[in-house]
Amino acid sequence: MTLKVIILAAGKGTRMRSKIPKVLQPLAQKPLLQHVINTAQALQCDEIITVVGHGVEHVKASVEGQNLTFSLQEQQLGTGHAVMQADAHYSDQDTVLILYGDVPLTKVSTLNTLLGLVDEQHPLALLTVTLNDSNGYGRIVRNQNHIVQSIVEQKDANSEQLAIKEVNTGIIAVKGKQLKQWLSALDNNNAQSEYYLTDIIAMAVSDGFLIQTSQPESEIEVLGVNDKLQLQSLERQYQRLCAEALMQQGATVIDADRLDIRGDVTVVSDVTIDVNVVLEGKISLGENVTIGANCLLKNVEIAANSVIHPFSHLEGCKVGRYCTIGPYARLRPETHLADEVKIGNFVELKKANIAQGSKVNHLSYIGDTDMGKGVNIGAGTITCNYDGVNKHQTIIGDGVFIGSDTQLVAPVEVASGATIGAGSTITKNAPKNKLTLSRSKQITLQGWQKPSKQ
Ligand code: UD1
Ligand code: CA
Repeated sequence: MTLKVIILAAGKGTRMRSKIPKVLQPLAQKPLLQHVINTAQALQCDEIITVVGHGVEHVKASVEGQNLTFSLQEQQLGTGHAVMQADAHYSDQDTVLILYGDVPLTKVSTLNTLLGLVDEQHPLALLTVTLNDSNGYGRIVRNQNHIVQSIVEQKDANSEQLAIKEVNTGIIAVKGKQLKQWLSALDNNNAQSEYYLTDIIAMAVSDGFLIQTSQPESEIEVLGVNDKLQLQSLERQYQRLCAEALMQQGATVIDADRLDIRGDVTVVSDVTIDVNVVLEGKISLGENVTIGANCLLKNVEIAANSVIHPFSHLEGCKVGRYCTIGPYARLRPETHLADEVKIGNFVELKKANIAQGSKVNHLSYIGDTDMGKGVNIGAGTITCNYDGVNKHQTIIGDGVFIGSDTQLVAPVEVASGATIGAGSTITKNAPKNKLTLSRSKQITLQGWQKPSKQ
C-alpha cells in the first residue's frame, strides 16, 4: 500500500487572535504542526504533503529540511478546497490520510487502526470521538441502524444535531480514486461558504459505501486547537501525560501539575523532581538525581546522585556524579563538571571544565576555564575572560587555592598546588606550590580623624 499523508495547515486561525499562524502556535514549545509532522513521519508514509497558505513563508521556514512536499492554497476556502490543492501528489491507488495541522497529539497506533479499515470495498474511514462538550466540532450523523450518514458542521447544524456527542476529529483515511471524485463534486453552499471536506462523507454514503469509523483510546489525541483557551488547556493535559510518563519510568514527581516538560526527558529510578521545574530539549537524569524547586534545565545530562538545589538554571552542560549545584547557580553552555564538584549560590559557569572534587561555592564567574581536581575557588572570584574583543582561556591546576575576591585576567595559568592571596588581580602566570598575591600594602594612617557633621 502506498500511503500519502496530507496535513492541512493553511488556515489563519482567526480565533487565536495572533500574528503567528495557528499551526505554529507552540505546544510544549514545539509548533502544533511539528507535532503532526512527527506523527506522520512515524507512520512511515511515502510522502507528506503539507497544504500551506496563511503565513506560508513563516510556516515553511519553521518546518524546513524534513523532506516535506508543500502545496499552496492561496485562498483559504475550506478544508475540502485545501485537500484539492494536493491533488497532483497522490494517485488513484494510493491511500490518503488527512491530518489537521491544529490537532497535534494523535497516536500512531490510532492512525494505523484507522488505516486498517480502508480497502477497495470501504474506501473511506473516519476517526470520530465522543465528547462531553462537542462545541465547535462537526457532528457525526448516524441513522437508526447506527450507520454514518454525514457530518454536519456546528454552524450548519439544527438543534437536534447540535445535541450529538459523537464528533468529527477531521482525520480521514480514504482511497485516492474516490477522494478525487468526491472533491471535484464539492460545493460551498453552507453557513461558512466554504468547501467542506466533511461533505465527502455524504457523497460516499450516496455512492453506496459503508463508512468505517474508529475511535482513539483517549480524547486528548483528537483535541483541536482553535483559540488560546484550547491551547492552554491542551498544554496542561499534555504536560500531565508527560509527567505521568516520567513517573512510569520511576521518577518521583512532587506535583505533576507543577512540572513542565518541553523536550525529551530520560530518567532512571529514584529521580526526584520538586515543584515548578521546567525541562527543555534533551535531558537525561541519572539514578537518585534530585532537582530542587524552580529550576530550569535545558539540554542537560546529570549523572547519578547529583543534587540541583532550588532556583538553578542549567543549559547545555554535563554534570558528573555526586555533584551539588546551587541554590541560585547558573551553568551556561559547554560546561562540564566531573564527579563530586560543588557549585554554590550565585555562581555562573560558562565553557568551564571542572575536574573531580573542585569547589566554587560563592558568588563567582568562571568562564573559558580548565580547572583541575581538588581546587577551591574563594568567594567573589572572577575569570576576566574578555578583553573587549576576544575571549581568553584560564587554566587552573590541581589542588589550587584561590583566595576570595580574586580576578584572574586571562589568558593566565595558575599552576598546580598554587595559592593566590585574597583580593589579588592576577595578570601573569602563577607558579606551582607557591603563594602568589598582588595587593597594595595595608597601611593605617596616623592622625586620621573621623569627619564630623557640619
Ligand atoms: C474541522 C472540521 C470539523 C471537525 C474539526 C476537528 C471541516 C469542514 N470541519 O473544523 O468537522 O470537527 O475540524 O478539529 O472540515 N485549513 C486549511 N485551509 C482552509 C481551511 C482550513 O488548510 O481553507 C486547515 C487549518 O489550518 C486547520 C485545519 O484545516 O489546520 C482545520 O481547519 P479549521 O478551520 O480549524 O476547521 P474546524 O472549524 O476546526
Ligand atoms: Ca480546528
